[in-house]
Amino acid sequence: MVTDESTAQETYAPDPQFAEQANGTAQMYAAAEADPEEFWAQQARDRITWSTDFDQTLDWSNAPFAKWFVGGELNVAHNCVDRHVEAGNGDRVAIHFEGDQGDTRTITYADLQKEVSKTANALASLGVAKGDRVAIYMPMIPETIFTMLACARLGAPHSVIFGGFAADALRTRIIDADAKVVVTTDGQWRRGKPAPLKATVDAALAPKDGEPDTPVETVLVVNRTGTDVEWVEGRDQWWSDVVDSQSEEHTAEPMDSEHPLFILYTSGTTGKPKGIFHTSGGYLTQCAYTNAVVHDVHPDTDVYWCTADVGWVTGHSYMVYGPLANGATQVVYEGTPDTPHQGRWWEIVQKYGVTILYTAPTAIRTFMKWGDDIPAKYDLSSIRVLGSVGEPINPEAWRWYREHIGGGTAPIVDTWWQTETGAIMISPLPGVTELEPGSAQKPIPGISAEILDDEGQPLTDPEAVGYLVLTKPWPAMLRGIWGDEERYKETYWSRFGDKYYFAGDGAKYDDKGNIWLLGRVDDVMNVSGHRLSTAEIESALVSHPKVAEAAVVGAADETTGQAVCAFVILREDAKKEADEKGEGDDLVQELRNHVGQEIGPIAKPRQVMIVPELPKTRSGKIMRRLLKDVAENREVGDVTTLADDSVMNLIKDGMTADS
Ligand code: WT7
Repeated sequence: MVTDESTAQETYAPDPQFAEQANGTAQMYAAAEADPEEFWAQQARDRITWSTDFDQTLDWSNAPFAKWFVGGELNVAHNCVDRHVEAGNGDRVAIHFEGDQGDTRTITYADLQKEVSKTANALASLGVAKGDRVAIYMPMIPETIFTMLACARLGAPHSVIFGGFAADALRTRIIDADAKVVVTTDGQWRRGKPAPLKATVDAALAPKDGEPDTPVETVLVVNRTGTDVEWVEGRDQWWSDVVDSQSEEHTAEPMDSEHPLFILYTSGTTGKPKGIFHTSGGYLTQCAYTNAVVHDVHPDTDVYWCTADVGWVTGHSYMVYGPLANGATQVVYEGTPDTPHQGRWWEIVQKYGVTILYTAPTAIRTFMKWGDDIPAKYDLSSIRVLGSVGEPINPEAWRWYREHIGGGTAPIVDTWWQTETGAIMISPLPGVTELEPGSAQKPIPGISAEILDDEGQPLTDPEAVGYLVLTKPWPAMLRGIWGDEERYKETYWSRFGDKYYFAGDGAKYDDKGNIWLLGRVDDVMNVSGHRLSTAEIESALVSHPKVAEAAVVGAADETTGQAVCAFVILREDAKKEADEKGEGDDLVQELRNHVGQEIGPIAKPRQVMIVPELPKTRSGKIMRRLLKDVAENREVGDVTTLADDSVMNLIKDGMTADS
């Protein structure tokens, strides 16, 4: 460890032995810098099997709509499965599945090929054809991966919806993607108990007054927990009835490099979630490349484990597509970190000899809270690379992670990227980069980023704070927002003109030229590494009959990074009623549950504060910055742009409830 006196920021040089075997090299930076397109073309040809080679690396003539590896054809599932079997690696374990209940399943690449083929045949028998959309609302079980890959095989874009989303959120996403089939399970294991899942699908698909029926023709149901389910004849089908009897052979048809692979919804600054859509060749290339050079996966020796849920982009890129494209062996775990005890993860690491672990800072901080003695009970000596994703990792958590999980030696890669970027963009390369805790450091080879000031001028001064932008198209970039070209241009390519992709993150350089990410600059919150929109939660709150107005902010939280804090103005009659009955606490609970029902448990506010007014500018825009000051117990900042500057006192004095 070297401590730099000027900033008191320590750095960690790469271990020479690690460097010797690392997939990433310093030369890659030079090669990519000299000719980025040539660099990517080489990655695409080295890492991916094309049934037709591409003849143009990048077509940016219709910017900001990119085409990568133009003219190339490939099948993503063939790349993730069949070609490994064809290369003689059919016996290699693809997935060590560890169920919540302690049940396990070992799936080799040969097994995976059979299962994916059966699933593809089953979906085809249900009428799913190239171009059709399939919604997937499932827990972390092998069938979820089979289904995603089966969709890729058929060229039917999937839309995975996180199992924690509630019926309304599910319905909106199904309708927006115009999905024909929903694949789900009867229930999912949650902390050792079954929780219904299909019931939510039923509610999402139920006819609604004044709304057209959903486009869903079939609901395919895996029996996971033995939970009782209602059955809609003609629509619902058991997985065991449809999939089990299918042929284990299916020929994967090549798709155009730009054929849509999936849609994944994420929160934006408005209440309407954005269907981020990704295509095939470029996405797979960058997932495979980053999983190789950033996670340093060596498929014949490593046991890799990404703890993310498949419902988020990390699960797509680094549980499904990246590691499987590379032919890696990985762990897939269904449950939570504390089921049945707080050492479960470390027990799993020990059991499978996990060598590479990729997780989120919120998990690391939770483990810190639980105590050093818990991981200390297990043999974690197999671990050689640690990864972090989802939000900035604070230096304390970084050091704890390295010390208590990484044996004091494992390099940590702090990886910055987004649903939109599809794959890792800014990160150290283990074995190459001198690590600096708290910073995601530099764009990886092939990626270019800058930090701009308010006027769009590039910042170079250390410590000056600006906006992170990406300055060149990249292979895994989103190809748009499903069904909304304008919103794509407007959201990402207009803030600083059409030459810069605006990421929505604040950032600064330090005196070593390393990039520090400083959180979102828009009305998007980051709770436990999950993106939530203030507007979406506000609209859930105002849909409650007792709420007149609501404002939501993300306030700093020790464990989850940010927490949802809501300020609510009640309707007159509700206010009177609450005053008379003195039932503030019940009401707060009722509102929290309401948000849980509308969006999902992850969106439930940590705090709901009933207030008489909200701070607004003269043009009526809510000043969330001031509410954030209140939520974080700070002195309230500059109030000069408030239409009525007595409002803040009213809010502080009048706060009647706090959960
Ligand atoms: C937002 C994207 C990337 C997959 C999981 C989240 C924040 C992500 C980091 C990091 C600082 C990070 C950013 C980004 N973020 N990784 N290493 N350091 N911030 O994907 O839900 O699309 O969220 O997460 O604010 O914009 P997402």
